[in-house]
Amino acid sequence: MTQPRLRLNDGRMIPQIGLGIWQVPAATTAATVAAALGLGYRLVDGAAIYGNEAGLGQGLRHSGLPRDEVFVTTKVWNDDQGHDATLRAVEASLGRLQLDHVDLCLIHWPVPARKLYIDSWRALIRLRDEGRVRSIGVSNFTGEHLERLVDATGVVPVLNQVELNPRLQQTALRALHDRMGIVTQSWTPLGQGKSFAAPPVQEAAKRTGKSPAQVILRWHIQLGASVIPRSTRTEGLAENLTLFDFALTEGEMSALATLDTGERCGPDPLTFA
Ligand SMILES: NC(=O)c1ccc[n+]([C@@H]2O[C@H](COP(=O)([O-])OP(=O)(O)OC[C@H]3O[C@@H](n4cnc5c(N)ncnc54)[C@H](OP(=O)(O)O)[C@@H]3O)[C@@H](O)[C@H]2O)c1
Repeated sequence: MTQPRLRLNDGRMIPQIGLGIWQVPAATTAATVAAALGLGYRLVDGAAIYGNEAGLGQGLRHSGLPRDEVFVTTKVWNDDQGHDATLRAVEASLGRLQLDHVDLCLIHWPVPARKLYIDSWRALIRLRDEGRVRSIGVSNFTGEHLERLVDATGVVPVLNQVELNPRLQQTALRALHDRMGIVTQSWTPLGQGKSFAAPPVQEAAKRTGKSPAQVILRWHIQLGASVIPRSTRTEGLAENLTLFDFALTEGEMSALATLDTGERCGPDPLTFA
């Protein structure tokens, strides 16, 4: 299976499809991660707040894959914002993962009311320069937050991981990412299944012989986003990786574009703390 990779603005590459592990129980994370890597996943999206970084690291070791074949992401939680707190938080994540570096570290939420995300960003720049983190990015940042970071430091995040699904298509933010050279990565890409029954999804599923989930994940791939669906079932993991033996037509992409309602599954980045 040919799995596409996207080029980051620091010259590194990220697999376009990965496994998300939010809400995967700590006790079973190692098994889920090892199963996913065995099926062909090469990107795992973790975070300190998910409480399962130790399992992510164990799953990676159990897979037997060389470290440099797997792209590992973690995130700095809101309570750890600020320069020194971020340095300590990333070291703690590396300790739990039992890794000497992660491939990508993100500021999990901007928490604009605390006004600390630029200090956190300076800490990530330092950790990148020291080699503890290969690439640095953000999550849930709006255009204004991105522009502030770049104005203050001159360093453009490689990626912004945001809620993106057929009901929340983030068209303006994706266009800004393109202009700034930032990869879009979609969280809750399946949108809690709320668009599975929508006619454009059903019709594309019928024509291609794929499931609604596969149609939606393929839509993310064709938007040019990186996508990190979560499944704890072996069949779900395999299904979500089988996206490269079919394509949506332009007409199907346009029909899916009509499903945008702007409704979120998760919190609003402007107020979430
Ligand atoms: N940066 C952030 O603030 C943020 C926020 C939320 C999430 N994330 C990241 O994004 C990842 C993905 O988001 P998510 O976990 O919220 O949601 P998701 O991947 O959109 O959906 C996961 C849900 O869909 C089900 N599912 C998976 N594959 C399916 C399929 N092929 N057919 C039908 N149902 C399927 C899963 O159940 P089964 O396990 O039973 O398959 C699970 O209930 C997270 O795991 C996390 O890594 C980041």
